[in-house]
Amino acid sequence: MVNPKLPAFFYGGDYNPEQWPEEIWQEDMRLFKLANINVATVAVFSWALLEPSEGQYDFTWLDKVMDMLYENGMYACLATSTAAQPAWMSKKYPGILPVTIDGQKRDHGCRVNFCPNSFDYRRASQALVRQLALRYKDHPALVAWHVGNEYGTYCYCENCAKAFRQWLKERYGSLEELNKRWYTNFWGHTIYDWDEIVPPSHLSETFSRGYMEGTYFQGMAIDYNRFMSDSSLACYKGEYDIIKEITPDMPVTTNLMGTFKPLDYFSWAKHMDVISWDNYPSNKAVMSNIAMRHDLMRGLKAGQPFMLMEQTPSQQNWQPYNGLKRPGIMRLWSYQAVAHGADTVMFFQLRQSRGACEKYHGAVISHAGHENTRVFREVSQLGEELKKLGDKILDSRINARVAIIFDWENWWVTEYSSGPSIDLKYVPQIEKYYKAFYDMNIPVDMINEDADFSGYDVVIAPLMYMVKPGVNGRLEDFVKNGGTFVTTFFSGLVNENDLVVMGGYPGQLRQLLGIWVEETDALFPDMKNSIIINRPFGNLHGQYQCGLLCDIVHLEGAQALGAYGSDFYAGMPAITVNDFGSGKAYYVASDPEDAFVKEFVRYICDQKSIKPIMDVPANVEVTQRIKDNTVFIFILNHNEHAVMVDLGPQVQHELLSDKYLSGASVIPARGVFILES
Ligand code: GLA
Ligand code: ZN
Repeated sequence: MVNPKLPAFFYGGDYNPEQWPEEIWQEDMRLFKLANINVATVAVFSWALLEPSEGQYDFTWLDKVMDMLYENGMYACLATSTAAQPAWMSKKYPGILPVTIDGQKRDHGCRVNFCPNSFDYRRASQALVRQLALRYKDHPALVAWHVGNEYGTYCYCENCAKAFRQWLKERYGSLEELNKRWYTNFWGHTIYDWDEIVPPSHLSETFSRGYMEGTYFQGMAIDYNRFMSDSSLACYKGEYDIIKEITPDMPVTTNLMGTFKPLDYFSWAKHMDVISWDNYPSNKAVMSNIAMRHDLMRGLKAGQPFMLMEQTPSQQNWQPYNGLKRPGIMRLWSYQAVAHGADTVMFFQLRQSRGACEKYHGAVISHAGHENTRVFREVSQLGEELKKLGDKILDSRINARVAIIFDWENWWVTEYSSGPSIDLKYVPQIEKYYKAFYDMNIPVDMINEDADFSGYDVVIAPLMYMVKPGVNGRLEDFVKNGGTFVTTFFSGLVNENDLVVMGGYPGQLRQLLGIWVEETDALFPDMKNSIIINRPFGNLHGQYQCGLLCDIVHLEGAQALGAYGSDFYAGMPAITVNDFGSGKAYYVASDPEDAFVKEFVRYICDQKSIKPIMDVPANVEVTQRIKDNTVFIFILNHNEHAVMVDLGPQVQHELLSDKYLSGASVIPARGVFILES
């Protein structure tokens, strides 16, 4: 959706003028213009100033800020300020303050420190939003709405307990059904009255396992996750609906956080006009992991371009070690976002805070207060480039033939599982398969179990432990019609309530995969098994290491492509393929080393004639966005040295340098090409 008011990359970010005396604001405007900034996200944390006492609103400073932005040729992404309620409000309505999983009532402080089911919070936040929307609905600077900020608090208060019971009544209808779904005859948990249900907290059904929560009752625990995700979503939606009622044409978003476990972003996405997210990788991040998160955010709304709402121009403050982004990295990573579907490049923040915990977080304007800094120069150069690109690339789409399933509910339930191994983690398995495609420069869409699979040639579902109703049928249709499906160990075991599908693993997927898994062995961290390739296929031959879990597989129509090398199940199938209709369904029964995944993925792609967008040297990333009949190829050199890329015989327009290139071309260290053809 090219914004009619600002048909260009939004370039700017969080601006907190309320932290500064007004004299500074004019200087900010001068500097923003120098940096080619066109959008400021304002009023993210301003509730205490906007509503100094109950029902008394004061918009004087925000009026000035909005006017000033507009007078200086800039636009406002207007936040609703509801991520941090004023202290007076927490004092007057203590029910707003949440209760932690340990049963502790929180005091006022921090941010996103509210109970998402607090009636007072919802009433007061919605009242503020109505005031804001009415006041600024016709303001010429307004280009988008930013609801709240990084939602995600889980609460365990009495009010949430009540709301949870209500949510369960609506979901299951009767106690009889609930008892069945939760399997409550286990440990004598039968419930006879809705009021007997308490939230699964550390005082009841959950415990801390250090890096993740454990639980005695998975069915209840995932329902609490679903309920908490829905509860924060209801806060967001309450604000969204008011904004849409008053400014129906303005895009509304809230900033998401990539692989943020507490909220099921696929269900949130249905209520967002545009996805926006905050990208804060460490300097040591693996590039494919960043790319995967961009693709995941693009996937939330089935490929619709998203907003890069925040990134740091250089340093962060909240990681253990906050390295500087090396010269060129901010530009390179900004284009990486664009290459994966971002239509905005925005920062946190425009002017560096003087006090509190973010004073050492990078910003466009540093504590030095002027433009003569490395970071400012890099920001302003990038702004210049984006300005030149205009709206050319905006709204273009990525065409992927491969999809990887990333499903929040499956993530929750997989990691709640008590056994077979505490090392069983969902995201690294996704990252592992994603990386194999990334390294080959083959585009991937990230989808959830509810997605339509029919447009893809290959669907990969690592660790598809939970298969939701209807999914197996849709997968079978997909494969029957020629699709290739790949899933891995510990898949298909449970339904949406974490109840095991009886009759043998992998449950519902058994027919599609043509196998029966009799047992699953958990390997200690120092143990390995191996996969011996039966007959070389693709580049796969010899043997590969595997670990973590080893499913013990019997063939029921599938063929074994590889077998275990050791232990009492040596010789039993470790990799299988089943011909199903005109397609194929593969099963990877253990967690293999990367070298296997790389060649396996290459083989799958070869079988489907899925080719890399371009063959390039290592650590060079290539993506492609398409709009009408124009193709934009992004080439990103993540190396610290220049490399040669072969652009082929056809002359192509490189948009950033405005040069026409063909054949062998040198792309500088950390350099970017955008080829138009
Ligand atoms: C988040 C928040 C911002 C800011 C940054 C700092 O993304 O949304 O308000 O705190 O982190 O990195
Ligand atoms: Zn609560």
